[in-house]
Amino acid sequence: MTTVGFIGSGHIGGTVARLAVAAGYDVVLSNSRGPETLKELVDELGPKARAATAAEAAAAGDLVIVSVPLRAYREVPVRPLAGKTVLDTNNYYSQRDGAFPELDDDSTTSSELLQRHLPDAKVVKVFNNIYFVHLAALPRPAGSPDRSALAIAGDDAAAKNEATAFLDRIGYDALDAGALVDGWRFQPGTPAYGGLYAGGNENFWESPGAPADAATLQAKLDAAQR
Ligand SMILES: NC(=O)c1ccc[n+]([C@@H]2O[C@H](COP(=O)([O-])OP(=O)(O)OC[C@H]3O[C@@H](n4cnc5c(N)ncnc54)[C@H](OP(=O)(O)O)[C@@H]3O)[C@@H](O)[C@H]2O)c1
Repeated sequence: MTTVGFIGSGHIGGTVARLAVAAGYDVVLSNSRGPETLKELVDELGPKARAATAAEAAAAGDLVIVSVPLRAYREVPVRPLAGKTVLDTNNYYSQRDGAFPELDDDSTTSSELLQRHLPDAKVVKVFNNIYFVHLAALPRPAGSPDRSALAIAGDDAAAKNEATAFLDRIGYDALDAGALVDGWRFQPGTPAYGGLYAGGNENFWESPGAPADAATLQAKLDAAQR
């Protein structure tokens, strides 16, 4: 697999794209305003990057990252993603996204909503619980003692294997946190969300990022309560 498509190329999508290019992938970026508005990022990333429409990025990607504000999830192109593994970085913030009653009452999760919207894709929840600055700072080669682990949740074993291989190549271990229905364990407000990769730094926003291994992450996932 050589090409990663991006639906959304902002803070987190853009950061994953930088890591992907550094790891040797080709990337196709997209946003809501059109390819011409991504020129700066494409120029920064060099010849392995190009910008396209969201539908084109979805079609071009062997693996596709969805990283838009959750309120826009129904605009993610459906048909070109059929059969593909889709990595979902999204979180629900009602102040930003508007109210989703089915998320407010915990009857489902944000990644399950995306999976319902993309019935023929294989959605894996990942990257949602790490601040983009820390995501950029913490990649390490396989086997490094200070390599961090990221949680993945999904319903398809092959898609989780693909997500694990991608994470490995960009510098992270993967920790299988279960099915999509288990993704709440690292959604906003849980112990595994955000601060884990800030090393308990009191000033989260100023933390340069701190490694968190699989055992540390697992303990936070186990401590999650609804
Ligand atoms: N920021 C973080 O550190 C972080 C970490 C983990 C997870 N997340 C989650 O990841 C998601 C993205 O966050 P972000 O911080 O990267 O947001 P962001 O910087 O605002 O970027 C959002 C991206 O989505 C694009 N977009 C919006 N609507 C779209 C549509 N209908 N079709 C295609 N692209 C669309 C935007 O394009 P335009 O600019 O053209 O509108 C932009 O490229 C959110 O759910 C967030 O909670 C964020």
